[in-house]
Amino acid sequence: MAIIIDENKKIFKLDAKDSSYLMQVSKQGYLYHVYYGAHVSDNDLDHILQLTGGASFSPSPADAPELSLDMLLLEYPGTGTGDFRVPALTVKDTRGASAVCLRYVSHKVIEGKPALPGLPAVYLNENSEAQTLEISMEDALLGLKAKLYYCVFEELNVITRWVQLENGSAENLTIDRAMSACVEFLTADYDMLGLYGSWARERTVERVALRHGTQALQSRRGSSSHQMNPFTALCARDATEDRGEVFGFNLVYSGSYLIEAEVSQMDSARLVLGINPYDFEWELEPGDVFTTPEAVLVYSSEGLGGMSRTFHKLYRKNLCRGQWRDKKRPILINNWEATYFKFNADKLVAIAHEAAKVGIEMLVMDDGWFGKRDDDHSGLGDWKVNEAKLGCTLRELVERVKAEGLRFGIWFEPEMISPDSDLYRAHPDWCLHIPGRPGTLGRNQLVLDLSKTAVQEYLVESLSAVLHSADISYVKWDFNRNMTEANNPDLPAAKSREIWHRYYLGLYKVLEEITSQFPQILFESCSGGGGRFDPGMLYYMPQTWCSDDTDAVERLKIQYGTSMVYPVNSIGAHVSAVPNHQTMRTTPFQFRGDVALMGTFGYELDITKLPEEDLDMIEDQVEKFHDYHPLIFHGDFYRLINPFEGNEAAWMFVSEDKSEALVQCFLVQNRPNAPARRVKLRGLDPEMRYKVEELGVRMHGDSLMNAGFIIPDMWVCGDYQSVCLTVKRV
Ligand code: DGJ
Repeated sequence: MAIIIDENKKIFKLDAKDSSYLMQVSKQGYLYHVYYGAHVSDNDLDHILQLTGGASFSPSPADAPELSLDMLLLEYPGTGTGDFRVPALTVKDTRGASAVCLRYVSHKVIEGKPALPGLPAVYLNENSEAQTLEISMEDALLGLKAKLYYCVFEELNVITRWVQLENGSAENLTIDRAMSACVEFLTADYDMLGLYGSWARERTVERVALRHGTQALQSRRGSSSHQMNPFTALCARDATEDRGEVFGFNLVYSGSYLIEAEVSQMDSARLVLGINPYDFEWELEPGDVFTTPEAVLVYSSEGLGGMSRTFHKLYRKNLCRGQWRDKKRPILINNWEATYFKFNADKLVAIAHEAAKVGIEMLVMDDGWFGKRDDDHSGLGDWKVNEAKLGCTLRELVERVKAEGLRFGIWFEPEMISPDSDLYRAHPDWCLHIPGRPGTLGRNQLVLDLSKTAVQEYLVESLSAVLHSADISYVKWDFNRNMTEANNPDLPAAKSREIWHRYYLGLYKVLEEITSQFPQILFESCSGGGGRFDPGMLYYMPQTWCSDDTDAVERLKIQYGTSMVYPVNSIGAHVSAVPNHQTMRTTPFQFRGDVALMGTFGYELDITKLPEEDLDMIEDQVEKFHDYHPLIFHGDFYRLINPFEGNEAAWMFVSEDKSEALVQCFLVQNRPNAPARRVKLRGLDPEMRYKVEELGVRMHGDSLMNAGFIIPDMWVCGDYQSVCLTVKRV
């Protein structure tokens, strides 16, 4: 059983695989945190539970002079009643007073997992995969009811959390902050790891020590962002890639978010994560309910690698959905870097023609096929095929591409509107805007206001019409700017700051409708590359274009960072032309192919202009993709050499039964007289005997993992070298 409750002592113990999470209700009704970490036995609880007393300058509640909320580790701390640390909840009453303190009312255990209305969330394939603890709390003075949810996975070190708030009073309440979870740690000896970045430089791994005061990772941009992913890991100081305790946190949300850690005066650490309270308010009228997004908590005693593999398992089977979840994805060729806006049907068919010869399976027509769109100054919103530009109808183009033997995919940027578009001329009020204030442009475009029902309906109708008009197998859903003038003038002033979240409720509604209307279509999300690589989007679309930076050297880091949280089969990775369009760097075709193998795999170049030897290499790469696909898509992923630390990178994929593995090693820049580089494998069965096929070496798993072997060849061939090694049980 995942949830164990001592009804007398009101102790809740959540056992997720080999981790335990403990909390208890005090006699005054405070729900305080006791422990989170490696599994502990049920009958030792009395010795773990400890209430700390008060302290000077930490006031005590009127009914509990022996306590101070400032000293307690709390499961869902409020504001204004003596806990001065970062809160999970801030609520204003009609007179503007801001104090809230929740006390325990009741609890129940739910077999399985309730849905989060209107929000993407982790789901169960079988009810038996998880149990959910629902703890009801209230602030009786405010009439605010809260349900704290803890969904505990039996077979994974995963607990997911979210909160439902209900106004049980006769007056309006305003939520200023409602985090999805607060997690307390008894000590603060942790490093905080985050994934920061920028456009074309997404998910750089950064690890810094927690220190006294607060540290925050966040986005205020109206999207989960290139700049900081909605993820953090608290790592024990001695935790490494393979060893030590790591606690991973990820928010199933695509909008602005906050992850904030505070080390207290008593050296404990508190972490909260949820919707960013910055510029946020939510008005709860009597009877209204507000549900926070879901937070995913992962425990690992096997370092960062163990944490990542748990996220990968969960997201592959319990987050991504639909027909494409487990299916092999087609090898695609996208025309963006091949043609940018300058193409017509003949050019696309010519690309398809060459692509078919080397085994590529799908052509994706990127930006520029609709409205008036020959550059990025116009046309967004006008989702009507520009037949004059293409030279034929969409159906004719698709049929011509299919006749070449390829499936067809198409690009949209549905959430945007160009001021120079028919849609804007007809509906200038459909974008996020503040009347009278000029709209700030990003890539010459404005953001549609998806909180508006009319906009949601327009998107579903106009996109569905295109998708029904031809045999379309794939959609790339792009989003190329962040939000400004975030405002819907139709909302009353008291609800005006709800816009950030209402936008996402609208988007999720549209995504649910479109993806369920076209279950056969493979959807890939994108935001100028990986600006919205988050679990919220993965719930609707099983893959995300990882970065607009297609340079293979840069991609080593970007993909390595992305793999901290997101499964390899969700990472959009393509081979592009050289000199690379983002860095001007020239790397060998093989190196680019090997890097792109770690992902959904495809091409992003003008294949009609490639020399014969590169075309031959594509054939080899396509074959390699087919051979290794089961390992890459379904295997366990192990990071071996960190590209952020040096000039090399290596990683491997291991089959579930450990009988097979693929090892990939990369050298960025060669050095004269370089020392031999040894790589130690991971995840194999120590007892099993394996053959490293390309080396002709036979060794046991323990030798391959503990002693490793010297990476062959790379240092004699110059810069940008890669090898793929197949390890098979003999
Ligand atoms: C940004 C995407 O990341 C690119 O791949 C491409 O689709 C462009 N947008 C098109 O405008």
